[in-house]
Amino acid sequence: MKVLMINGSPHKNGSTYTALTIVGEELKKYGVDYEIMWIGAKPVSGCLACSTCKQTGKCVFDDIVNEFMEKGKDCDGFVFGSPVYYASATGQITSFLDRLFILLITQPKRLNSVLFQHCLPAKIKHLEP
Ligand SMILES: Cc1cc2nc3c(=O)[nH]c(=O)nc-3n(C[C@H](O)[C@H](O)[C@H](O)COP(=O)(O)O)c2cc1C
Repeated sequence: MKVLMINGSPHKNGSTYTALTIVGEELKKYGVDYEIMWIGAKPVSGCLACSTCKQTGKCVFDDIVNEFMEKGKDCDGFVFGSPVYYASATGQITSFLDRLFILLITQPKRLNSVLFQHCLPAKIKHLEP
């Protein structure tokens, strides 16, 4: 089994990465492999609701969302990590998740395995040795 994780922070190796790694290392103890994909530091476009994905199975913006869709084909579960920005997830990960509308259209059953992981900085620092 393999779980694909998204680090929704603009910091590649920040608290969100640390939180996801902790989750991943726990999964490993149960024989579940994991991979962390970084969302990157550039803006992530929101969903245009153009419905092109209904025809092509891909988003018109050929970026991290399509990369995730491709990698995700071989994965059994997904974890989305985000720093808390004003008591919510970041704009980038919110746009990313909006655009997973493609999943809803192409693989509706897989959405059942989605888990939202919010990163609370104080708690993460507390866990560090
Ligand atoms: C624009 C912005 C808004 C934030 N809002 C909150 C918040 O509402 N609550 C909170 O606890 N931390 C907030 N933070 C702090 C981040 O959640 C915290 O630094 C987090 O650990 C960053 O994760 P990262 O290292 O993976 O980027 C905010 C940070 C930024 C830049």
